[in-house]
Amino acid sequence: MENIVVIHGGAGSPSSLNSVLKEILSNIIYNGTALDMAIKPVVAMENNSIFNAGTGSVPRIDGSIQMDAAVMIENGFGSVICIENVSNPVLVARDVMEKSPHIMISGDGATEFARKMGHEYYNPETEKSKNMMIKFKESLKNNTIPEKFQFMFKSSEDTVGAVSRINGKFAAAVSTGGSFPMLRGRVGDSPVIGAGIFAGNKGAVVATGIGEEIAKSLLSYRIYEAIGTEKLSDIVKKEVNKFKVSAGIIAISEEEQFAYSNTDMAYSMQQY
Ligand code: GLY
Repeated sequence: MENIVVIHGGAGSPSSLNSVLKEILSNIIYNGTALDMAIKPVVAMENNSIFNAGTGSVPRIDGSIQMDAAVMIENGFGSVICIENVSNPVLVARDVMEKSPHIMISGDGATEFARKMGHEYYNPETEKSKNMMIKFKESLKNNTIPEKFQFMFKSSEDTVGAVSRINGKFAAAVSTGGSFPMLRGRVGDSPVIGAGIFAGNKGAVVATGIGEEIAKSLLSYRIYEAIGTEKLSDIVKKEVNKFKVSAGIIAISEEEQFAYSNTDMAYSMQQY
C-alpha cells in the first residue's frame, strides 16, 4: 500500500489551480500520522486566500464570517460549526476530537473552545469577502435577488479537503466558509459526519458542493459504505452524477484513490 495524500480546492475551483495544490503538497514535510498528513494541506489551503476556507472564507448575508471544519479517522471525529475569528478551523476540529469529550461544537461555544485551546483571535475577512457583500447589497437594492443568487453560487468556490492513506491508516479533513449567500448560523455538509466527510478502516472520503443536497443524501458515508463492492472510481462517479447541483468527491481506499466532480474542481495527489 502506497502512502498518498489527495486534496481538492472545492467544487467550482478551476483546474488552473491544480498547480497551486501540487505545490502545497510538494511543500509538505512527510512525517506523522495519516491525520497529520490530511490536516497539513488543509491548513495550507486555509492560509491561502484563494480558497473558501479560513482566510478567504465567504461571508454570511449579515457580513459575518462563520466557518465549518471537521476531521475524521477510524473511531475518531471532531468538528466545529459556525466558528468565528480563528485562522485555522481544522486545527480546532482536531482539538475537539482529541482534547474534548465531544464530537461537534458550534457557534460561540466553538469560538470559546478555540480560545481555551490557545487559538488566538484572527479576522479571516479579505477584499474578496468584502466585495461579495458589496455586490450582494447592490443586488438587494436592484431587486434582482434570484438571478444574483445563481450567479454568486456559480462564482464562489466551495470547501477545501484532504484524504490520506499513511502506513495503512486513513484520515480525512475538510474546511469551508460555506456557500454564498447563506444565513448566519447555516450549516452545510462539511462538519456533519457522513455528509461532507467520512473515514474508517477501509478508506476516507471528503465531499464538496452544495451542502444542503450533499447532506440530504449522506454522500460521504454512502461512498465509504460501497468501498470494496466495485472500483472506487465507479462508485464515486455513480454517486456524484446523481446530483443536479454541483458536487465533487475525493476518496481513497486500500488500493485506489480518485477525485471527481460534476463541475470544475481543482485537485492534486502525491505519494510520500
Ligand atoms: N460544501 C460546503 C457547504 O455547503 O457548506
